[in-house]
Amino acid sequence: MFALFKRSKNNETLQKCSNEQQFDFDDSIALKILAAIKKEFGLDYSKQEYITMRKIERFALKNEIYDFQQLHNMLASSPKLKERLINMLTVGETYFYRELGHMEILAEFMQQNPVHNILCAPSSSGEEVYSILLYLQENMQETLSVTLVGIDLNSDAVNAAQQGCYSQRSISLLPLEIVQKYFKNDNSKFCIDSSIKCRASFRQCNIFDKSLMQLGTFEVIFSRNMLIYFNDKQKKEALANLRALLADGGILFIGHADISFHPEGFEKIYSPKGSYLKKI
Ligand SMILES: C[S@@+](CC[C@H](N)C(=O)[O-])C[C@H]1O[C@@H](n2cnc3c(N)ncnc32)[C@H](O)[C@@H]1O
Repeated sequence: MFALFKRSKNNETLQKCSNEQQFDFDDSIALKILAAIKKEFGLDYSKQEYITMRKIERFALKNEIYDFQQLHNMLASSPKLKERLINMLTVGETYFYRELGHMEILAEFMQQNPVHNILCAPSSSGEEVYSILLYLQENMQETLSVTLVGIDLNSDAVNAAQQGCYSQRSISLLPLEIVQKYFKNDNSKFCIDSSIKCRASFRQCNIFDKSLMQLGTFEVIFSRNMLIYFNDKQKKEALANLRALLADGGILFIGHADISFHPEGFEKIYSPKGSYLKKI
């Protein structure tokens, strides 16, 4: 069914213009949906409120839901629908060998400290996890004992990570010899070799979820370009969770724009290759 609709100037409510379908996209209800998303997943869209509400509106229409109140109710009763909405909202940019300086620092750290378990939170579609493994494999002798765990809220991204097949664009920063050595070109997709893939595992997980602590402890954590989605209170909560997962003396890499304050329980270490946080 196709129906015309328009947005009213005053109350931002999407109203029907035809007789075919009743629409009621009342933004005050959309704000309630955004508040619930922020509470559960930390995702704070207050700086992109209007654009995010329009994305949610398109999501509702795609699912043949024609008013925000109905969507709000359905999200409360359907975990699958909520998962699809979160997947749509959290598609994040990522690619192989992003901010390579951190991997150089990791290799230096590993020369002085035993590292067996590395966590990547968030891992998105796996590029960062496989980059770390590729970098260590190519630049260090004794890496076979290292395993990587990747977690992400977005279940589509977790599935893609488990498959390990990527576009040309995603691998464009990788040296050609690494692509030739570790990837199979399969129907315009580049699929990572099983010798690397078998050292990584991925699971869907919310950084604010208490079950996170069951992952165990890690000597190194990469948490790059996720905190940026949160407000300061949530950033602090997420950092406290990550700190609890770090072994004593362990180190945490975050993205350069992720926080603008000094996080409690960490010492900031600067190096020409980048900075990182050490648990104290
Ligand atoms: C821009 S990507 C960063 C990926 C990778 N770390 C990198 O730097 O290239 C951000 C990721 O954060 C994930 N994310 C957002 N909120 C999250 C949460 N509450 N728990 C776990 N992952 C979350 C999103 O699903 C998305 O895949």
